[in-house]
Amino acid sequence: QPLNPQMEGSSVLRRADCRAKGGSSGFKVAILGAAGGIGQPLAMLMKMNPLVSVLHLYDVVNSPGVTADLSHMDTGAVVRGFLGQPQLESALTGMDLVIIPAGVPRKPGMTRDDLFNINAGIVKTLCEGVAKCCPNAIVNLISNPVNSTVPIAAEVFKKAGTYDPKRLLGVTTLDVVRANTFVAEVLGLDPREVNVPVVGGHAGVTILPLLSQVKPPCSFTPEETNYLTNRIQNGGTEVVEAKAGAGSATLSMAYAAVKFADACLRGLRGDAGIVECAFVASQVTELPFFATKVQLGRTGAEEVFQLGPLNEYERVGLEKAKEELAGSIQKGIAFITK
Ligand code: NAD
Ligand code: LMR
Repeated sequence: QPLNPQMEGSSVLRRADCRAKGGSSGFKVAILGAAGGIGQPLAMLMKMNPLVSVLHLYDVVNSPGVTADLSHMDTGAVVRGFLGQPQLESALTGMDLVIIPAGVPRKPGMTRDDLFNINAGIVKTLCEGVAKCCPNAIVNLISNPVNSTVPIAAEVFKKAGTYDPKRLLGVTTLDVVRANTFVAEVLGLDPREVNVPVVGGHAGVTILPLLSQVKPPCSFTPEETNYLTNRIQNGGTEVVEAKAGAGSATLSMAYAAVKFADACLRGLRGDAGIVECAFVASQVTELPFFATKVQLGRTGAEEVFQLGPLNEYERVGLEKAKEELAGSIQKGIAFITK
């Protein structure tokens, strides 16, 4: 009797695999980097998601422990664990949605771009696996710097001949989650009632909250606008500094990742009116990628929405965001094409 029967290469004693093989309901989801700071709480929350029938947990370390632990939860999703590069293809085969939080996080004093040298190669390898084993899966890319890793993934998929811009989404939900929270704090509202569109990208000035478009409609003083914009743009750094060398946002990120993944799965199921912000291939600006609201459907990001009316403060912010984004996108593309 294997001690960890949920790992690839082992088997569980069971009369019938009614959930994993039936294929009748639920989606197959893989998490790459599942044993990490984000990966673990994300895996737990996805194990609790009723839309998930099969959950594959892949990492280069520690996935057996995380898999054994989560597989004892009496929720519907069947969990299987995969360890190391030789098991990547098995982890990915047949998946509907692949969530990628693999890679190193920031320490105080670092920018997200400082992670490029390590994370670019990790994302490239994982996306080559996706192109080979589940080319039709939706990909939710979390690994930083998102402004460059999404263009890297796009180039990997183009090279493999599998690129569909609708299915590649950079996860910027944490910016929206933070914006909702901080705006609600200022206004004295319940954050669940607040919706702030955050556009641009996912680093510093590229994170552009559109406070003029907050729902419910409200207005801000110039002091509030400055405070909120800076706090939202620096939310990640706030956590990195508070963790003092022990990593970056993991718990709020896992929450945000599940919020976004759940929206993608509801879109795949055919639910109507699923709209979230994400960093996607875009014609909204002159840049090839940009984060805006997108409509999620059976084939991924089926519609990319325009920015809507901006005020002067936001127009200035947009120009700054585009300037930085252009370089980050180009850096990602060049990593594959040069
Ligand atoms: P972490 O170090 O705690 O976990 C990363 C995991 O990735 C580890 O378990 C590691 O073993 C694994 N890993 C490394 N190389 C791998 C490979 N080749 N294949 C599979 N797994 C591999 O880091 P974390 O705190 O979970 O953060 C992960 C990434 O997410 C970082 O790049 C971080 O900057 C980013 N992040 C993004 C957002 C966002 O809003 N998009 C938010 C927070 C963090
Ligand atoms: C975040 O916004 O929390 C993440 O991008 C992690 C980081 O490095 O700030």
